[in-house]
Amino acid sequence: MLLEREAYGTGYVFVLSTVAEARGEGIGSSLLTFAERCRGTRGMSLIVADNNTGARKLYERHGYKVSARRPIVKNGWESDGENWLLMIKAP
Ligand SMILES: CC(C)(COP(=O)(O)OP(=O)(O)OC[C@H]1O[C@@H](n2cnc3c(N)ncnc32)[C@H](O)[C@@H]1OP(=O)(O)O)[C@@H](O)C(=O)NCCC(=O)NCCS
Repeated sequence: MLLEREAYGTGYVFVLSTVAEARGEGIGSSLLTFAERCRGTRGMSLIVADNNTGARKLYERHGYKVSARRPIVKNGWESDGENWLLMIKAP
């Protein structure tokens, strides 16, 4: 993905997911904090769909800011999202 190239020098969170029954209990937050052990010289990064407002709120609370965006190529895939957002947390 083109956006990943813009994440050079960061620790990149490839996937973050918790089981539905255990959401809202702080596990996602703990995992994000744990991942920071792998932060790079430019900090941390991840990619999220613009319509994933819950996850975005969590990332913003952890200091991640939108740094670039690219249109979601759907190819028949159903999604209400319009753009992938690269979010970076500076060191
Ligand atoms: C995003 C996700 C990993 C957060 O994990 P979590 O263990 O619920 O996170 P925490 O308990 O530490 O933090 C809760 C915050 O996550 C966000 N959140 C997103 N979806 C949520 C859900 N279904 N239930 C509760 N919180 C959710 C909210 O911003 C919430 O903040 P709030 O407490 O101020 O409302 C989890 O909701 C998930 O697996 N979602 C589906 C997969 C996904 O969208 N992953 C992100 C892809 S980039």
